[in-house]
Amino acid sequence: MADSKSAPKILIAFYSRSGTVEGLARAVAEGAEAAGGEVRLRRARELVGHDVLSTVPGWKESAEAMNARYAAPTAEDAEWADAIIFGTPTRFGSVSSELKAYIDGLGGLWFQGKLNGKAGSVFAASSQPHGGSEITALSLYPVLAHLGLIIVPTGYADGAMFAGAGSPYGASVISGNPPAGPTEAELAVARFQGKRVTDVAKKLIVA
Ligand SMILES: Cc1cc2nc3c(=O)[nH]c(=O)nc-3n(C[C@H](O)[C@H](O)[C@H](O)COP(=O)(O)O)c2cc1C
Repeated sequence: MADSKSAPKILIAFYSRSGTVEGLARAVAEGAEAAGGEVRLRRARELVGHDVLSTVPGWKESAEAMNARYAAPTAEDAEWADAIIFGTPTRFGSVSSELKAYIDGLGGLWFQGKLNGKAGSVFAASSQPHGGSEITALSLYPVLAHLGLIIVPTGYADGAMFAGAGSPYGASVISGNPPAGPTEAELAVARFQGKRVTDVAKKLIVA
C-alpha cells in the first residue's frame, strides 16, 4: 500500500457490454481523481463468443470499442490498489460472470493475504427499476468480505443520495431497454462514491 504522503491508488474494475456501467465507472473515476486519487480504469473481458455478441446489434462493436479504451484488469492491479471498486451490469439478478471471473482470478492474492485492509466498494446497473441492481450490488458484499476488504457503502452520506438515484449500497443505473446512458443524478452518486472511497482509502493509509 502507499505511504501517507502518496495519492491513494484506486482500481475501478468493471464489466460493461453496452456502455451503461462504463458511464458509471468513468464518473466514479472522476470523483476519485477530484479527491486526489490515482485511478486505474479496467474492463473485464468477454467470456461469451461472437455468436452471442452478434445476437444484439451493437454489442460486438461496443465491446471492441471499450477494449480499445481500457486494459483488462490484472491481479497486479488489485495488489497495487489501496481501494478496489467493482462495477457490473445485473445478470439475472446477480453479478456478471465476466467481472466474477476476474474476481475469482484473485485467489492467489487472497491466499497470501495481500488484499486485507484495502477499501472495497461496488456499483451496478439494471434495465428495470425493480430488475435487481440493489441485490446485485449486495451480492458482491460477501465477496468483498471474503477478500478482506473494508466495505465502503454510499449510504446517505451526501446530498446526491437524496435525488432519487443510486442506492445506499453503491451507485446504480436504471438503463431501460435498449439501454440509455446514466442520468445526471445517477452520475452524481457515482462521483460521490469515487470521492468517498478515496477519502476512506486516505484514512486507511495513515491508520
Ligand atoms: C444475460 C442478461 C441478463 C440480464 N438480467 C437482467 C436482470 O436480471 N434485471 C435487469 O433489470 N436487467 C437485466 N439485464 C439488463 C442489463 O443489466 C442492463 O441492460 C445493463 O444496464 C447493461 O449494462 P451495460 O450497458 O453496461 O452492459 C440483463 C442483460 C443480459 C444481457
